[in-house]
Amino acid sequence: MKKSYITSPIYYVNDVPHIGHAYTTIICDMLKKYRQIHGQEVFLLTGTDEHGQKIENSAKAHNQTPQAYADSISAHFRTLWEEFGIDFDYFIRTTDSAHCQSAQVAFKKMFQKGDIYKGVYEGWYCISCESHFTKHQVVEQKCPDCGKPTTTIKEESYFFALSKYQNALLQWYEQCPDVIVPKHKRNEVIRFVESGLVDLSITRTGFSWGVPLPEGIENAENAPKHILYVWLDALISYISVIGYESAMRMDLWENATHIVGKDILRFHAVYWPAFLMSLGLPLPRKIYAHGWWTRDGVKMSKSIGNVVNPKEVAQSYGIEAFRYFLLREVPFGQDGDFSQRALIERINSDLSNDIGNLLNRLIGMAQKYFNLTLFCTQIEHFYPQEVAKIAPILERFESAMSDMQPHIALEELWGLLRLGNNVISTYEPWKMMKQGESEPTLALLMLVSNILLKTALCLYPIMPRTAKSIATALGCSIDTQSFTRYVSQNTLLQSATLTPIAPLFPRIESPLMPEPSNLSESTSQSTAPKTQSHAQSTLTSAPSLVSIEEFAKLDLRVGVVLECERVPKSEKLLKFLIDLGESTPRQILSGIAKYYDPSELVGKQVCVVANLRPVKLMGLLSSGMILSAHDDEGLSLLSVPKKAGSKIS
Ligand code: MSP
Repeated sequence: MKKSYITSPIYYVNDVPHIGHAYTTIICDMLKKYRQIHGQEVFLLTGTDEHGQKIENSAKAHNQTPQAYADSISAHFRTLWEEFGIDFDYFIRTTDSAHCQSAQVAFKKMFQKGDIYKGVYEGWYCISCESHFTKHQVVEQKCPDCGKPTTTIKEESYFFALSKYQNALLQWYEQCPDVIVPKHKRNEVIRFVESGLVDLSITRTGFSWGVPLPEGIENAENAPKHILYVWLDALISYISVIGYESAMRMDLWENATHIVGKDILRFHAVYWPAFLMSLGLPLPRKIYAHGWWTRDGVKMSKSIGNVVNPKEVAQSYGIEAFRYFLLREVPFGQDGDFSQRALIERINSDLSNDIGNLLNRLIGMAQKYFNLTLFCTQIEHFYPQEVAKIAPILERFESAMSDMQPHIALEELWGLLRLGNNVISTYEPWKMMKQGESEPTLALLMLVSNILLKTALCLYPIMPRTAKSIATALGCSIDTQSFTRYVSQNTLLQSATLTPIAPLFPRIESPLMPEPSNLSESTSQSTAPKTQSHAQSTLTSAPSLVSIEEFAKLDLRVGVVLECERVPKSEKLLKFLIDLGESTPRQILSGIAKYYDPSELVGKQVCVVANLRPVKLMGLLSSGMILSAHDDEGLSLLSVPKKAGSKIS
């Protein structure tokens, strides 16, 4: 059996997981499942990168020891991957003692080979990227990769003789042109190496949170205490997991695939292979570099407050829809943009309409006409043209998946679902049944069952839970045997006993997560120049007519006030907790403190604009607006005697 090894990057524990981490890990899981369904044995590694200056600083900022801080953030990652159903085989933490020992053994081996020497590093350093730069690379003291300020350092350091490997690396890129994917990224790597490699500083002395040097390397008294450079430490985790010091699982290592973001490709495609050459180990078979995610077109950052929290997305929209969106929305290797609008569109059109409805219609008709039991040996006889279209779609799906182009693979697969939906609308089985044509109707329903089964088997790496639900509804299973039979050999299933299931993807009418505030303290001074806000206020004060489409954009709902209190230091604001029939109540602020006492509002059924962009007022998030009417006598809240969440239109 073919064996392979897949690694995700190991994540820094300076902060909790965000969408970029989820994306990389989901790609790894997709690849593992894709290979497994083809009958391969796959070992998937993920974990956390816990040493280095960045983590030491973050721990300090949180008044914790680096170990305690790493323990808590590492647990967030592990729990999230478990909740997401990521099928990892090992979760490495670089603070594990077995890993630290492996890193020391590897350092010693490279040292004994003569690839490590002592010197002084003088240059620029980006703590956020944990990366060294020369004077020519930094722009106005800023990191060329992330744009954050760099620091200059001058300290004694051990160096790895990277320059010695320049030609060997160039030869490797040439001899194995398919290792680095996508091609344009490979070209960037080659240009970087061709421009000349300088030896790499691989120890630090300015702080202490890292793996100490192995015994016997640094024994001079009063010498500065070196720790391993965090990237050397982290990269070694890929081999320490599969037994670098003990009998190494070469069966896995000889077929290794690294999945990385474009920002860390240099470390994986230049430094890492050079370290491996020095250690006398085989080089990776594949290095896939993916693009970056932005939110609503804006780079994500903590200070703007627009970082997408993958847990929140999965809780609001479901992990399956989130996986589908991430893998369908952007071509692998390119940057992508996350917005709730785009996600909802994908859910409603691709998932709810194209898959969910097709399965519902099939089950509904099978129940009505054939008591859920279908059997037909002549599908091809009745629908030869439709059946002939299946094989080429499956071939194109397979070819796109093996080229790591899941978005194209999914586009192809949706061609199969279209075929299923079209066959129903073209032949109208309800009319056939009225005319007593039960044989062609049975054949049609078996054709649709086949289309859904093949879709489910192909979809498994992308949406594993959905694939299993569809297969269960069809009385089938998702496994290598079924994949070989119904996808690789494209055999047709001839009988099925269906089981009704709940609708797979209910339609979503409005965003389920609050939007990030664009008026948060951190950005309020810098955005919206005065001229613009003046122009906006004149525009909004002018009476104008709106179309019915514009009005329909408003999501007005009945909300029941659960809690209400004054906002400290504010004369105007009341803070509400309102039940809108959603999974969690919303916090909404309203400037009506002069007109109401908070206690008289609890239990009141108010009218809420539910899809208003959230804003921060007095440092508190407000996700919606409560409607009121006012005249000379004062202000009254609008109230409707309907239950929480009722739509107002
Ligand atoms: N610790 C190193 C990796 C060491 S591997 C031996 C590291 N960690 S990280 O936590 O900063 O980033 C991990 C991964 O998340 C990288 O692949 C990176 O590209 C990815 N992402 C971080 N932000 C991202 C986006 N906004 N979008 C997509 N992925 C991005 O680097």
